[in-house]
Amino acid sequence: MTDLFKEKAKDWDVSDRARQLSTGIGTAILENVVLTPNMDVLDFGAGTGLITSQIAPFVKSVTAVDVSESMLDKLRAKVELNKKVVVICQDITADPLGQKYDLVMSAMAMHHVKDTDNMLKQFSQHLKEGGQIALADLDAEDGSFHKEGTQGVFHNGFDREEFSKALVKEGFSQIRYLTAYTVIGEKGSYPVFLVLANKGG
Ligand SMILES: C[S@@+](CC[C@H](N)C(=O)[O-])C[C@H]1O[C@@H](n2cnc3c(N)ncnc32)[C@H](O)[C@@H]1O
Repeated sequence: MTDLFKEKAKDWDVSDRARQLSTGIGTAILENVVLTPNMDVLDFGAGTGLITSQIAPFVKSVTAVDVSESMLDKLRAKVELNKKVVVICQDITADPLGQKYDLVMSAMAMHHVKDTDNMLKQFSQHLKEGGQIALADLDAEDGSFHKEGTQGVFHNGFDREEFSKALVKEGFSQIRYLTAYTVIGEKGSYPVFLVLANKGG
C-alpha cells in the first residue's frame, strides 16, 4: 500500500494546523470522556501520536493503529510513550485486530476511509459491550479543506445527521456531538466535530 503520509510525516508535529487541531480534539476528549486507569483505548489513524500522547497518561494502554509507517515511525520515536502505547501498522477496517477495547477514538482519519459503514462496524467489533467511541473529523465542507488533487480523501467531511444514522445502524446509542475546534483556513473556516456514543443500548 502506498504511504500517502510519507512526506507529511516529516514535519507533521511542527505543523501549526496539526498541533492546534490535535490540542483542540485532545482537550475535548479529556473534558468529555471519563478516562480511568484500567481502560484500554484504540486510536484509529493515530499518525504520529498527537492524540495518543494526550490520552495515554490517564489510561492503562493505547493501541495506536495506522496504515502509514512514516507517521508511526514518528510515534515510535517518542520513547516516553513506549510503556503504554502499542503501535500497529494495519488497516483494521480490512484486517481486524481480534481484540476488544473500552474506547475507540480517532482524529481526522475517517475521511480517508472510503466505506464509512464498514469502518463503524469494525469500530463496534473492536469495542467491549458498553464501550465508547470518541470520533473527531471535519463537518461537511465544500472540498476546499484539502489541496486539490490530494490523494486518499474520500469524504469532504461528514454531515452530522447522516453520520448519526450510520452510528445507529451499527448499534451505537447516546449519540452526542460537540464542536471540538474550528480550523481557520485561507478558503474558509472548517468546524471539526467530536461525536461521542456508546456501544449497545
Ligand atoms: C490527518 S492524519 C491524522 C493523524 C492523527 N490522528 C492526528 O490527529 O494528528 C490521518 C491519519 O489517518 C491514517 N489513515 C488513513 N487511512 C487509514 C486506515 N484505513 N486505517 C488507519 N489509519 C488510516 C493516515 O495514515 C494518517 O496518519
